[in-house]
Amino acid sequence: MEQYAIKGGNPLVGEVEIGGAKNAALPILAASVMTNDVVHIDNLPDVRDINVLLAAMESIGVIIHRDGRHSVTINASNIRNLVVDDENIRKIRASYYLIGALLGKYKDAEVTLPGGCDIGCRGIDQHIKGFRALGAEVVLEHGMIRTTAENLAGNHIYMDLVSVGATINVMMAASMAEGQTIIENAAKEPHVVDVANFLNSMGANIKGAGTDVIRIKGVKSLHGTDYTIIPDQIEAGTFMFAAAITHGDVTVKNVIPKHLESISAKLLEIGCEVEEDDDCVRVVASKPLNHTHVKTLPYPGFPTDMQPQITVALGLAAGTSIVTESIFENRFKYVDELTRMGANIKVESSTAIIDGAKRYTGADITAPDLRAGAALVLAALSAEGFSTVDDIKYIQRGYEDFHIKLQKLGATIELVENEKDVRKFKMKVG
Ligand code: UD1
Repeated sequence: MEQYAIKGGNPLVGEVEIGGAKNAALPILAASVMTNDVVHIDNLPDVRDINVLLAAMESIGVIIHRDGRHSVTINASNIRNLVVDDENIRKIRASYYLIGALLGKYKDAEVTLPGGCDIGCRGIDQHIKGFRALGAEVVLEHGMIRTTAENLAGNHIYMDLVSVGATINVMMAASMAEGQTIIENAAKEPHVVDVANFLNSMGANIKGAGTDVIRIKGVKSLHGTDYTIIPDQIEAGTFMFAAAITHGDVTVKNVIPKHLESISAKLLEIGCEVEEDDDCVRVVASKPLNHTHVKTLPYPGFPTDMQPQITVALGLAAGTSIVTESIFENRFKYVDELTRMGANIKVESSTAIIDGAKRYTGADITAPDLRAGAALVLAALSAEGFSTVDDIKYIQRGYEDFHIKLQKLGATIELVENEKDVRKFKMKVG
């Protein structure tokens, strides 16, 4: 099984190119089935979740042509069936975006319910509420969610909580409903805006994405488009925190600095220098880190997907820091692993109380989920001695070439397959 072998201690220095946003790309790929014309998508990250979704789309008859590592051409004019079910698609949460897309276009969809509860129980009641408000019948049975409608009609929908997935899913279906839909208490994340821009480029009429009220006038059909996905806010944030955690100097390139404001603000608070340019941000960590408090919130608040990375940084900041997780209930599972590396962190329900340690020490650790896995790699990169990180399949779900990008910044990290490789790595790097 693949692992990362890491020798910590090098400050990360240099430039790193950020890829397309996974969480925008997933719904955009799903939405591309809503037209019978050809859709061309660029800046697609080459990560596992994307490849699983593309395979699921192929399984229902969507023709997908890989034009290059980061671009695809999609033709959904010959979809054979509206039932999406395979063992891989069950593993990715974003499979549910095919419901909104197929329901909008065909008024009929059956998709396996997302499984995997790695960071807490993740409801879909708001998605269902939205589909029903548009006039769809929704049935959950045998592990599947089935939605059908004679006709979809626009409606006024108030989301009981801010949900990225529900906002996007309902927005997709409403794009092809009759009349106007208003989504109140909508999520404002950059990827919600990107999906709205994508749908508008296909002829949809969506206004207000990026605010908490989205207005959608349904259209009869959507047409082909050529679209480039926005840069990944969380990949960029992860490398920015890599600079802080390893006391390095990293410039993240090909980013939208506006999307990184909450991340930059916290880095400044903990004593890093942050320089923004048009499409890059440089983070320099030349001083010891300061403690701070942070609470995860929907955008423009501090992202829950950056919570493990900031916790790893605060684990090394003098004084007491408090991290409160307000989006997912079970997102501190990685703290046990970090404790094994020398962190002093006490978790009480949704709060982590952190007493900064002087340093981490290398250990054999396991990635419990995608973002925590990446954060543990950063901890290992700053730690004294060797570490191995297991279950990196989680990390590969969302980070393209993670270890290669880290190597280019001077990290001593390798992808290894077995004990023998680990021994060889240790001999090589001393
Ligand atoms: C998306 C991101 C994920 C990120 C999260 C929050 C993708 C593929 N994943 O997940 O990386 O951490 O946004 O920014 O884009 N909820 C309900 N009922 C619902 C919908 C959500 O109770 O119908 C709850 C969830 O359990 C969670 C919270 O609302 O506690 C936020 O979830 P949501 O914003 O929907 O996250 P996802 O779209 O699943």
